[in-house]
Amino acid sequence: MVSDRQPANESAFQSFTINPAGVSTFKISPMTSESKDFTSVSPSAKSLLLLKGYTNIPYAKELAALMQGSEVFDLNFDDKDFGFWARVLHFESRYWSIDQLLRQTQTRNMLELSSGFSLRGVELCMQDETIHYIDTDLPDLMTQKQQLVAHQQLDKQLLGQLELLPLNALDENAFQEVVNRFENGPLTIVNEGLLMYLNEAEKQQLCGIIHRILKQRGGYWITADVYVRRGTEALNAIPQSSGEAAFFEQHHIEENKFESYESAAAFFRSQGLEVVAEATPNPDGLSALPHLINVLPEAFRKQPQSEGLPKIQATWMLKAI
Ligand SMILES: C[S@@+](CC[C@H](N)C(=O)[O-])C[C@H]1O[C@@H](n2cnc3c(N)ncnc32)[C@H](O)[C@@H]1O
Repeated sequence: MVSDRQPANESAFQSFTINPAGVSTFKISPMTSESKDFTSVSPSAKSLLLLKGYTNIPYAKELAALMQGSEVFDLNFDDKDFGFWARVLHFESRYWSIDQLLRQTQTRNMLELSSGFSLRGVELCMQDETIHYIDTDLPDLMTQKQQLVAHQQLDKQLLGQLELLPLNALDENAFQEVVNRFENGPLTIVNEGLLMYLNEAEKQQLCGIIHRILKQRGGYWITADVYVRRGTEALNAIPQSSGEAAFFEQHHIEENKFESYESAAAFFRSQGLEVVAEATPNPDGLSALPHLINVLPEAFRKQPQSEGLPKIQATWMLKAI
């Protein structure tokens, strides 16, 4: 899906690849000594991309086609059953929920944390020359993403400024260095698929960093990671493969979720962050919906339409108070 829009200035895209002289354009920030090694989380980004490859999320299909080798959730691509399409629908909905809230901000400076193989920054910079988007994830993942973006020549078509940079979101000095790359003015930080990999102390650490930055500059944090622990009903509704269950257990995903939406709001408030908006899901607009409807189990067909799938997640816009 290469756009035929006017080519952008080559320098609009900055990479951290090794240049011919063997000098890396950007330093790769070392992990802070007190933080753990998060690289075991990175394989989930590939699984999510493979799922999003079945949606109309920009560039997902093209990028997914370039992925090779196994994936960690044991997704069954041969038999795309209800569980498969429910996951595709969920991640598609989560992706668009961030864009919905982003449109409500006037910010031109955008920082994405733990972006995985998402190309939201590419999409926005293709359309708008006033945007400065910094897309970040852990160093190894960013190296791969950089190669994929270059392979698809997406860096040649940008109007806005896009940077792909390595960042451990819990490393405050590195975080601050990345933020300093923006011009003065408010900043919107976005993320999806990170908080459930962080324990309470790590979540507090991240909130502290984001709070200090938003206090300095103004702006918002849009996070799609307001997941609440699943009750038996939700747990039974969508069964897990053994690979996915093992990955969730290894990373304490259920424990790391919030107890309830109220306790999530109270947690953010205790960190100096207030909820100012929540995204409204729009299932009818999702490209995966017709596929899900085709494989809907009898029990769901009998439910009144208003009940739908149980709510397991919310996307919030937060501001520093
Ligand atoms: C479930 S994936 C989500 C990727 C992407 N946001 C999406 O929704 O498709 C989790 C991502 O978090 C990244 N990650 C884990 N710990 C991180 C950290 N401390 N700092 C930055 N990124 C991290 C992983 O490398 C991985 O890409």
